[in-house]
Amino acid sequence: MIRHRRLRQTAQLRNLVAEARVHPDMLMMPFFVADGEGVEEEIDAMPGVGRRSVDLLLPKIREVYDLGVRSVLLFGVPDACKKDAVGSEAANDYGCVQNAVRAIKKEFPQMVVACDICLCEYTDHGHCGLVKDGVILNDETLPHLAAAAVSCARAGADIVAPSDMMDGRVAALREALDRNGFHNVIIMAYSAKYASSFYGPFRDAAGSAPSFGDRRTYQMDPRGAREGMSELFSDVEEGADILMVKPALAYLDMLARASSATTLPLATYNVSGEYSMVKAAAQNGWIDERKVVMEMMTSFVRAGANIIITYFAADVCRWLKEDEAAR
Ligand code: PBG
Repeated sequence: MIRHRRLRQTAQLRNLVAEARVHPDMLMMPFFVADGEGVEEEIDAMPGVGRRSVDLLLPKIREVYDLGVRSVLLFGVPDACKKDAVGSEAANDYGCVQNAVRAIKKEFPQMVVACDICLCEYTDHGHCGLVKDGVILNDETLPHLAAAAVSCARAGADIVAPSDMMDGRVAALREALDRNGFHNVIIMAYSAKYASSFYGPFRDAAGSAPSFGDRRTYQMDPRGAREGMSELFSDVEEGADILMVKPALAYLDMLARASSATTLPLATYNVSGEYSMVKAAAQNGWIDERKVVMEMMTSFVRAGANIIITYFAADVCRWLKEDEAAR
């Protein structure tokens, strides 16, 4: 008789044959950086996640660094008065994200710092590109994204991560980065990024909800799987260094496909709505947060992720340390 249970008898045997393992090195933690000083606001739908000005962000980074987090992804939340039609503030060398990059790199030189590159947090209409007569423009948006990426590179970012979903943005960023001497700055492309309702809490956090319409003319239709592969392949061709599938949980099939069809490192983004659902259920005592989160993280690794972007990163590091101590 074939006895599958033979290898499941003890924790040590299960550990010995385990396939997918989660490690702190693969976790990237997102942060929202606000303008000003002394700003620390909790985000209603994301308990434990806040918007902070640089002065209060640094102690938080210290806390997660001490737990083992070694990479962060920064989002800017500029004051409303700084927003305009083309998102100029995204390319301000002294904008909130650029200031945060310099401060983090100074205090934590080992920290890998990634910057989300998009206009939606910086435009007064909340779309990820320029708008004309209600249409989101593609080619006209590219120079603005490139300028934002170069500005973040100048501040010291290791990685720029375009999340806007305009066509040709990876090539435009690569060209602009190289032209400015940043040939070693890494592009992590949000390649297969779907038009998802799981981004809801993020848009409240970042103040980036579109003022009209939705993002379905640029983010992908959730019904497309082969289409997602086209997006991934074009980002490879345009020179991306790391590919991403987003969201994570409802798109694990795309992660598995990407993992077998491409050779670049793969990231997945465990997005805001996925975080909020777990938090809400845990607060109600309906699920065991730690076990559910670890099961989710394991599923991302099993599906092929090398990098997991998650608001749970610091918790996961802490839990892994506890597991190691109890081993
Ligand atoms: C910016 C951007 C979004 C997210 C990452 N970058 C929001 C959106 O596309 O509307 C979502 C992240 C999350 O939900 O945690 N374009």
